[in-house]
This record gives sequence, structure tokens and C-alpha cells, in this order.
Amino acid sequence: MDEYVTVVDHPLIKHKLTLMRRATASTQKFRSLLREIAHLLTYEITRDLELTTERIETPLEEMDAPVLAGKKLCFVSILRAGNGLLEGMVELLPSARVGHIGMFRDPETLEAVEYYCKMPDDIAGRRVIVVDPMLATGNSAGAAISHLKKLGATNIKFLCLLAAPEGVAALRAEHPDVPIYTAAIDERLDDHGYIRPGLGDAGDRMYGTK
Ligand code: URA
Repeated sequence: MDEYVTVVDHPLIKHKLTLMRRATASTQKFRSLLREIAHLLTYEITRDLELTTERIETPLEEMDAPVLAGKKLCFVSILRAGNGLLEGMVELLPSARVGHIGMFRDPETLEAVEYYCKMPDDIAGRRVIVVDPMLATGNSAGAAISHLKKLGATNIKFLCLLAAPEGVAALRAEHPDVPIYTAAIDERLDDHGYIRPGLGDAGDRMYGTK
């Protein structure tokens, strides 16, 4: 689309996403594919992490070798589906801090209602990546990001698996300073707030609920 939205374009991501979309994918399969795609998306969204060098010894000689500069990261999972993406991200960056924000969609208005929030005290000084597999209306992501900005966070990105064009537009209007990374942008949002063709309810598919 443009530099505001990065659709991470990779054959492995496309293939794994197709396997997830299939209605026949089991809970176990869905979960493990989400973790695998999380690895690949995290690889892309962390591309701009700063590096420094450390003097190390290989078995043959000394060298100045690149290491992450230790700029502090915080992943923020929008409950509950965000936890599926979060798992894979923490595997790649095990020292990242993690915040959780609980939001549910009012089924009538589709507005986000917050019911839980627990963040690291120093979130204002961290690079924050907010995660939720489905960017549908953009209401939950928008509300979560507004909350983080109130806590002082200034460096925020948003990561999802699937986005609806309507969700991208809404988030962009509310938070033009927050870039979006996604594996795909689908056709549309339906009247019930589902992404079409989509993959159904990500939380239900991940946890085997209805
Ligand atoms: N949340 C989901 O889990 N699926 C959708 O299609 C939209 C929002």
C-alpha cells in the first residue's frame, strides 16, 4: 500500500496463512501455524532494531561482532487472540517485556470495551509492538494504542496477521504515527465485524472455543 502499511510478502507466510484459513485446520495446527508466522512477521517488524558491536573470540581469532544494542522492547498483546502471535514473538526475543490489555467487542456497537490492563512501569521508554491477529474494525487496536499513549509510549508499531481495509483506514485515521505490519489485507469487513474471506474467529480457532 505505502510506508504506513507493510504487507510482509513472503511465500512461506502466504502458504502458512492459506493453511490457517482452511475451515478444516485443527486447533493444534492453527496454533502452531500462527506461531510460525509470528516468527516470520517478527523478523520483518524488528528489521530496524539498532545494533552495536561486542569484542568476541571465535575459535580462530578476535572480532567485533554485531549484537542488539539493547534498546528496550515491549510487546503488548490484545487479549485474548493476541497471545497466539505473542508466543512466537517471545520465542525470538525472550528478553522483551510483555504487557496485556483486555478488550472485548460490544456485539451491538462493535465498540471496544477495556476490562484489563497490565503494563511494565517503564513502557514510556520502550519500543512498543502491539499485537492482535485480526485488524477488523480497528476499534480494539485504536483504543489499546490510545491507552498506551496515555501511559507515555511514543514509539509504537502494530502487528497483525490479517487486516480489513476498513480497519487499516480507521487505525490510520486515529493513529497516523503507528505503522501497521500484516501478512495480508483481505477484501472487506462484513456486517458482523468479520474479515472476509478471513479465517473466522481467531480466538475461537486458537483455543477450540465457540
Ligand atoms: N476478529 C476475529 O477473530 N475474526 C474476524 O474476522 C474479525 C475479528
